[in-house]
Amino acid sequence: MISQALRDARRYEEILEKQISPQERPAFHLTPRSGWMNDPNGFCWYHGAYHMFYQYYPYASHWDDMHWGHAVSRDLLHWEFLPAALAPDELYDRDGCFSGSAITLPDGRHLLMYTGVVNEKDRNGKTWGVQTQCVAIGDGIDYEKYEGNPVLTEKDLPEGASRFDFRDPKIIQKKDGSLLCLLGSRPADKSGQILLYGSKDGLHWEFRKVLIANNCRFGKMWECPDFFSLDGHQVLLTSPQDMLPEGFEYHNGNGTLCLIGTWDEDKEEFIASKDQSIDYGIDFYAPQTVETPDGRRIMIGWLQNWDACAIRDDEDPWAGQMSLPRELSIRDGRLYQAPIREIEELRSNRAAYGDVHINGSLELENISGRCVELLVSVRPKDPANVYHKFSIYFAQNEQYHSTISYRPHEAVLKIDRKFSGSRRAIIHQRRCLVEESRNGEIQLRIILDRFSSEIFINDGRQVVSAAMYTPLDAEGISFFADGEAVMNIVKYDLGTGEVLD
Ligand code: FRU
Repeated sequence: MISQALRDARRYEEILEKQISPQERPAFHLTPRSGWMNDPNGFCWYHGAYHMFYQYYPYASHWDDMHWGHAVSRDLLHWEFLPAALAPDELYDRDGCFSGSAITLPDGRHLLMYTGVVNEKDRNGKTWGVQTQCVAIGDGIDYEKYEGNPVLTEKDLPEGASRFDFRDPKIIQKKDGSLLCLLGSRPADKSGQILLYGSKDGLHWEFRKVLIANNCRFGKMWECPDFFSLDGHQVLLTSPQDMLPEGFEYHNGNGTLCLIGTWDEDKEEFIASKDQSIDYGIDFYAPQTVETPDGRRIMIGWLQNWDACAIRDDEDPWAGQMSLPRELSIRDGRLYQAPIREIEELRSNRAAYGDVHINGSLELENISGRCVELLVSVRPKDPANVYHKFSIYFAQNEQYHSTISYRPHEAVLKIDRKFSGSRRAIIHQRRCLVEESRNGEIQLRIILDRFSSEIFINDGRQVVSAAMYTPLDAEGISFFADGEAVMNIVKYDLGTGEVLD
């Protein structure tokens, strides 16, 4: 039975979608069908297609009562909207269906596990959301909430854990077919931890242990965990709130954390030995991963940050977009990311320049556009006399531009969208330490879509992402060097072919 609330949302989004032209959206990044989007949810491969659900408020371009929006794709670049999957329509989730994950049941049905929220007021009138875990089962389009919901409540919490911070279930399957669920939680020390629950059928769950405690090291509450093995290591991704910067790591307030370590499945023991930010730019949060049928681990995050939401206006027809799908690997104990290889299918209009000497400003014929891939490698003309600064300007006209600049003497790469058209004094810059490029040799793979830039540094050792809402006629790209540098450039236009890009 489809509730009135879900029917309303489906009717509304269907009408609103028609009012947003394809040119008002990115060419190959997923945006909400209408209104607001935050975290990716239930990212999975199900019955021959990738499914992406997302935190969704269809009725306005701001966060409000959370629904689950829904889209499908065969290559993670061309997306088709499906009707919203969940609405907050039950007593146990009436104030929101928060983030969660999806698995395929042995009988082929699709199971979504999400956090149900019910608001409570304290003596001072402050609202707190009590969070429980709920399940819905369906066929890839319509989902029925389980009559036994909620399946995990405060009764299932270890001592000291908050019932207001208990969310974002991520289900994984063990080799024996049984299920584990990781959940973000806030222990008594007000920091974060990941709780582990076990189940045979996805409906009946029991508490197993605290998988890993933050002990106040990486921010506070840990949101949106994901957990998988990759290249012989075990990886835990989570998005901690309220992070403190450590050197050049963790500058985003609401940041991202990648822990790399070992996992003993029999003992259910995870030991983390390395940590890093997932993305070093301004906008990236709450990523989820999927394993492709050919065994690749692909990650998509929300290409926005809670601290920088004001980059979008309430009058805008949609707010929030997903990042590029990124292929993950571990090399030298670090997480590497590459744009999903299917993006090569979107390429056209190649332009290439070799050994371009630059000292000052430079524009190159056929290098411009807002849906573009740029492969740029830079080196000093004279290794004994390394240039001071190298910059790329993009989304540029007389009024607007964004930049990426690299200063080899400091080994710092900076993204700056101050002049991208934002009218708010929010964070517009981020710096990233690229230690290995102190000699002035750096490789950048830049993917621009209409409203985003994602920069993969040195073969994806670090990634810097930022949203930008610059008017689309600002499509210039130019280069600048302070000192003598030499660069090789290849450019492709990127388009899905659905609209003229
Ligand atoms: C992370 C988050 C999740 C929560 C959702 C609510 O961005 O705060 O922890 O489930 O957003 O929309």
